[in-house]
Amino acid sequence: MKRETPIAARAAVQSLAASKIRELYNEGLGRKDILAFWVGEPDEPTPEFIRKAGIDSIAAGELFYTHNLGIPKLREALAAYISRLHRKTDPAQIAVTSAGVNALMLASQLLVDHGDHVVEVTPLWPNLQEIPKILGASVTTVPLDFAPTGWTLNMKKLLAALTPGTRVLYLNSPNNPTGWTISREEQKTILEHCRRHGIWIFADDAYERLYFGKGGVAPSFLDGMQEDDRVISTNTFSKSWLMTGWRLGWLVVPPSLVADLGKLIEYNTSCTPIFIQRAGIAAVTQGEPVIEHTRERFHRARDFLVGELRKIERVEVAVPEGTMYVFLRVKGMTDSLGFCKQLVRDHGLGLAPGSAFGPEGEGFLRWCFAADTDKLAEGVARLRSALANPKTDLPNR
Ligand SMILES: Cc1ncc(COP(=O)(O)O)c(C=O)c1O
Repeated sequence: MKRETPIAARAAVQSLAASKIRELYNEGLGRKDILAFWVGEPDEPTPEFIRKAGIDSIAAGELFYTHNLGIPKLREALAAYISRLHRKTDPAQIAVTSAGVNALMLASQLLVDHGDHVVEVTPLWPNLQEIPKILGASVTTVPLDFAPTGWTLNMKKLLAALTPGTRVLYLNSPNNPTGWTISREEQKTILEHCRRHGIWIFADDAYERLYFGKGGVAPSFLDGMQEDDRVISTNTFSKSWLMTGWRLGWLVVPPSLVADLGKLIEYNTSCTPIFIQRAGIAAVTQGEPVIEHTRERFHRARDFLVGELRKIERVEVAVPEGTMYVFLRVKGMTDSLGFCKQLVRDHGLGLAPGSAFGPEGEGFLRWCFAADTDKLAEGVARLRSALANPKTDLPNR
C-alpha cells in the first residue's frame, strides 16, 4: 500500500548541513599515517584531580537524578568564578548544562521562535549556525573581514543587520574558527544598539580563557552589561579544563528566565549527571593552574605555527587573538573541501575546510594548534610540500 506521507524528519532538520569535517574524516578512515589537526579539541587528557572527583562520586553511589539547574555547590562555585572574572553573579542566575552545545540549544529553545530573525557573525562553528535553523529561525550572517594583519568586524554592517525586529545576535568571541576577539568598545556599541531595539545577545564564551591578550581573559558582554540587559552567556568546561568528553557547561541568564529554563532542562536531559558535576566543582575551584598551563602551551604553539605558515608563499594568515585555531588563506584555492580531501589522500595531513564554517570561510583552512611543536612542524612540512608539488592542483569549483 502506498503511503500518503513519506517517513521523514521535519523539513528544517532535513535541510541541516551535513558535517564536512566528518566527510573528510571518512576519507582518511583506517589510515594510521594521518597527522590530524581538524578536530577542535585540546590534546591533553583531563587532569587527575578532576577525574578523581568524578570517580569518588561514582564510588560514593551518586548515581541518581539530581536538580534540573545543577547541584547548588557547582552553581555556587560557578557564581564565585564568574563574579571573580566578570561581574557579581548570583548562583540563581546559573544553570548547569550538558556542555556548551546544549547550553546554546537551551538558550535558543528559550527565546527563539519559528520564523524569528537572528544574526550571526561569521565564519562560525557549524553547530552555532545550525541550532537556530533547527528551531525554524531565519539567519542573516555578517562576515568578518580578513587581512593578514587581523580579522575585523564591520560594525556598520552588523548594526544594519540588527534591525528592530531581530530576535537574537549570536556572537562567539574568541571566535572559532578565526580567533578574532571582540573589543570592549565594540561590545559597548553592540550592547547599546541591542538595548535600544530589544535584541537578545547570546555570547558564546567557550574560549574566553584561551585568550592570548593581556590578562588572559577575553572581554565578555558580562563585563559591561547592565542588570536588565538581554544577555545570555554560554560556556563550557571542555576547552578551559580539558574536559571535552565529560559534556559539562553552563549558562548565565537574567533571573526572570531561570524557572522556565529549569522546565526546558527537565524536558531535554532532566539534569547533568551528578558525578560529572562533582568533577566540575574540582575544575572550577582548583583548576587555574590547568588553564595557565594550557594557555601558555597554546600561546607558544600559536606563535610557532603562524611563524612557520608565514614562510609559505601561497599562505596568508592573521595572528589569532584567542582559541586554538589558525584560519589560513591559501591563495588561488576556491574549493577548500576538495583541497582538504587531497591533503588527506596524498599527503596524510588532516585540516578542516574553511567552507565548513559557512560560505564566507571558503578559500581558508582551519588548523587546530593544540599539539606539540614537532607535530606542528611535520604538518607544516606536509602542507609546504603539497603546495610545492606541481601534481597538487588546487581544485576549483
Ligand atoms: C564556538 C564553540 N562554542 C561552543 C562549543 C561547545 O563545546 P562543548 O559542547 O564541548 O562544550 C565549541 C566546541 O567546539 C565551540 O567551538
